[in-house]
Amino acid sequence: MADNNPFPGENNTGHIWDDNLRELDNPAPRWWMIAFWASILWVIGYAILYPMIPGLSGFTKGVMGWTQIGEYKEGLDEVEMVRGEFEAKLKGMTAKEILADEGLSSYTVASAKVLFGDNCAACHGAGGQGGPGYPVIADDDWLYGGSVEVLEQTIANGRMGVMPSHAKLLSDEEVDKLATAIMSGNPTAEPLFMSKACFACHGPDGKGMQALGSANLTDSVWRFAEEDQLASVKLTIKHGVNDTSDPMSRNAVMPKFGDRLSKDEIKKLAVYVYKLGGGQ
Ligand code: HEC
Ligand code: HEC
Repeated sequence: MADNNPFPGENNTGHIWDDNLRELDNPAPRWWMIAFWASILWVIGYAILYPMIPGLSGFTKGVMGWTQIGEYKEGLDEVEMVRGEFEAKLKGMTAKEILADEGLSSYTVASAKVLFGDNCAACHGAGGQGGPGYPVIADDDWLYGGSVEVLEQTIANGRMGVMPSHAKLLSDEEVDKLATAIMSGNPTAEPLFMSKACFACHGPDGKGMQALGSANLTDSVWRFAEEDQLASVKLTIKHGVNDTSDPMSRNAVMPKFGDRLSKDEIKKLAVYVYKLGGGQ
């Protein structure tokens, strides 16, 4: 073929088709060759420094001693160091002092989120929004008080507000009258409120007493039902709350966590709930 090459002097391979379509043997462009050799050098360098070439009993380890798990652990150590610093500080501080420090309270809220999810969300909802039978703890309306000290007590010791059953003490008509007055937001306008001693627990103004956890009856915040509040209020008046002598009584028990969670965990949760609901 080379003998009768119709394009002598040209750097072709001698492969010619259709009379003049031929394969040239030019060198690859310079930039391409540089990139080619550089990538080979890079691979050699990489193989020396990092774990890479598989063998029968594992793989080459590389002179840097890099491992994936090592890098992960280093990252973890960094997190632990930051955490450790915060945790050490928290131990010696009261919940109130934590709240006064913005950085510490953000850390506490972040780290108590899991505790809240594990221990509280089943009853109070993931965001503390409550539900029928379980009070909202993400607003500033409190049965027992929303100062961070009271929240710590509530979580550590539990709560169980008691209202006696009035099934035998009130006629249906009297229950209706009381319920109607309460629903209108003005319970004290109903004389039965005084004569049947509701005021003894709910206060002469009907606004409740936090020492007893007796609900504020003037604020239209209800905690036992989502629908038909009038019927729900009637049921509560008639059968009371946590009164074991009446099987129809409302059941409202906040379990105590003092024997399940550490003091520090309870402190964190109090800060968390305080930040959810806020205020007194
Ligand atoms: C088994 C259900 C249940 C669980 C779990 C539970 N609670 Fe409660 N919680 C209640 C009930 C019911 C009440 C109302 C008690 C009452 O009316 O006397 C309550 C009341 C409260 C109150 C008082 C609200 C107020 O208005 O004063 C706070 C604060 C509170 N819970 C926080 C928590 C936290 C924090 C956790 C998790 C550590 C938790 N609860 C876990 C059922 C629960
Ligand atoms: C011994 C104290 C006590 C007496 C007396 C009492 N209550 Fe209560 N009442 C409570 C407590 C405590 C609660 C709140 C229970 C809870 O939320 O855990 C409550 C809750 C209620 C509720 C429900 C509020 C809500 O948010 O759903 C109504 C309504 C109510 N009481 C009306 C009355 C009326 C009317 C009388 C008088 C006939 C009365 N109570 C007498 C202690 C009392």
